[in-house]
Amino acid sequence: MSDNQRPQDHFGRRAKKENYPARSVYKLQEIDNKVKLLRPGMTVLDLGAAPGSWSIYVADKVTSKGTVVAIDNASMKVQLPAYVTVIKQSALDIVPAELLKQINKKGFDAVISDMAPHTSGHKFVDQSRSFNLFMRAIELSEEMLNLGGNFVGKIFVGEDFETARAHMRSIFKTVKIVKPKSVRSESFETYLVGLSKK
Ligand SMILES: C[S@@+](CC[C@H](N)C(=O)[O-])C[C@H]1O[C@@H](n2cnc3c(N)ncnc32)[C@H](O)[C@@H]1O
Repeated sequence: MSDNQRPQDHFGRRAKKENYPARSVYKLQEIDNKVKLLRPGMTVLDLGAAPGSWSIYVADKVTSKGTVVAIDNASMKVQLPAYVTVIKQSALDIVPAELLKQINKKGFDAVISDMAPHTSGHKFVDQSRSFNLFMRAIELSEEMLNLGGNFVGKIFVGEDFETARAHMRSIFKTVKIVKPKSVRSESFETYLVGLSKK
C-alpha cells in the first residue's frame, strides 16, 4: 500500500496544511537537517520527483540562484519556479551527456532519489525492483555528480541492501543509513546517504 492509499497521519495532515502534495517532504527535511544537504546556489537532480513535494522543498532551499531538475515518468502535480526543469521520463532512459547539455551544467552538486516501484505485495519482488531503481540512481550519480557532491536514495531493505551500501562506500567518503521518523514504522524503506563523492 502506498502512502497515498493509507489513512492520513500527523505527517499527512501537516503536508496538506503546508500545501505539499505528499508527506514524503518530511523525510527529505529530516535528512537535510541531519546532514546539511542543500544550500542556496546548488544544482540538484531530483529522481522520482512526482507529485512534487521534494522538488518544492529543494527549490526553496537552493533558491533562484540554484537549478533543480525534477524527473519522473509520472506527472508532477505542482507549480514550480522557473529554475526547476521538469522532465517526464523514466530514470532508466536518461542520457547523462544530453541532460547536462540541456541545462548547460557540467554536473550536479546533489542527486536525490525517492524513486519507488509500484508495490506488488510480494516483498522480494518489490525489494528487487527498489534495488534496481536505487542502483540506477547511483549509476547516474557516478556519471553526473560533481566531486564532493552528495547523494540520497530510497531503498527497500532486503537481501541486496548490503550490496548497495558496499557499492556506495566505493563512491563516497561517508555513507549513512537514515530512516526518518516520518517513514511509517511498518515500512521496510530506508535512505542511504552518500556524502562527498570521491
Ligand atoms: C514516493 S514517490 C516520490 C514522491 C516525491 N519525492 C515527492 O515528494 O512528491 C515515488 C516516485 O517514483 C517514481 N518512479 C518509479 N519508477 C521510476 C523511474 N523508472 N523513473 C522515474 N521515476 C520513477 C514514481 O512514478 C513515483 O512518482
